[in-house]
Amino acid sequence: MNAAHDFTTRLTAVATETETLLGHLLGDAPLPGETTRPERLLAAMRHAVLGGGKRLRSFLLVETAALFGARRDGALLAGAALECLHCYSLVHDDLPAMDDDDLRRGRPTVHKAFDEATAILTGDALLTLAFDIVARVEVHTDANVRVALVSELARASGVGGMAGGQMLDLAAEGRFADKRTLGETEIMTLQAMKTGALIHFACRAGAILGKADDTARANINRYGAVIGQAFQIADDLLDVEGDSATLGKAIAKDAAAGKATLVSTLGVAGAHARLDALIADADAALAPFGAKADTLRDAARFIAQRRN
Ligand code: IPE
Ligand code: IPE
Ligand code: MG
Ligand code: MG
Ligand code: MG
Repeated sequence: MNAAHDFTTRLTAVATETETLLGHLLGDAPLPGETTRPERLLAAMRHAVLGGGKRLRSFLLVETAALFGARRDGALLAGAALECLHCYSLVHDDLPAMDDDDLRRGRPTVHKAFDEATAILTGDALLTLAFDIVARVEVHTDANVRVALVSELARASGVGGMAGGQMLDLAAEGRFADKRTLGETEIMTLQAMKTGALIHFACRAGAILGKADDTARANINRYGAVIGQAFQIADDLLDVEGDSATLGKAIAKDAAAGKATLVSTLGVAGAHARLDALIADADAALAPFGAKADTLRDAARFIAQRRN
């Protein structure tokens, strides 16, 4: 079996297992402490979460956890939680008040398939579901580990993480004041927050679940930060070079919206060069783990080369 094939097999396995888990988590039956699950909201949540998505965040979490010998079932559950949070971020990102997109994963966005109010509530409910899931004892028997995950996930998602990054992204479009062109460092910060933080969390969470030592954690943190950055550069390049049918979302929107991206500052060739440098950086961060980290090495390449 060659390396590329093995990687695809592993990615597909996590995606399939994550999908099954998410299907159960978004079932009809109310849990203890819940009253009922309104049909319309549940249907919109299922539309947002199920039947698409690469499940890359879940994959990174599961594979990092595997590197540190953590149990796969707990990691998959934490991965499903992270996918709920990620899908919430997409539902809100697509809203008319944000990026105003009609297509996601080749299907109508939630506010198109349902309506805006339902899309807002879908995001709210997916965000809170993520924390419900990650706090469950099935994720890890050690409550300290679960509290660490809750705390890290909150920080990755909130004002100093994804939501904060989304704020900076919209501000850079010039929506709230006169438009000011951001420098490269500011764009990197914005992207490390809006996209990098959740990808970084995936890697940190694997290390938390596997109780990695400080040195290993530092290397995995570096890897997570670097691939988070790479992921958004690849996304910004796909907006210019990609194909809408393959991507399942609109293209050529960033320049039109005046988004601050590394493609807008470095140009397409410059952004590709940066991407290559980041992948080399990811390899360097993984070097101490040797062949055990081959899947994570392949994941970095996948992020740079993906077509969707
Ligand atoms: C898209 O993320 C949004 C960004 C952070 C750029 P993905 O490309 O991982 O989306 P899915 O989950 O695979 O659809
Ligand atoms: C998305 O960035 C970041 C989050 C959803 C937090 P984009 O706005 O570039 O993602 P796409 O291109 O809509 O998937
Ligand atoms: Mg956006
Ligand atoms: Mg968007
Ligand atoms: Mg984009």
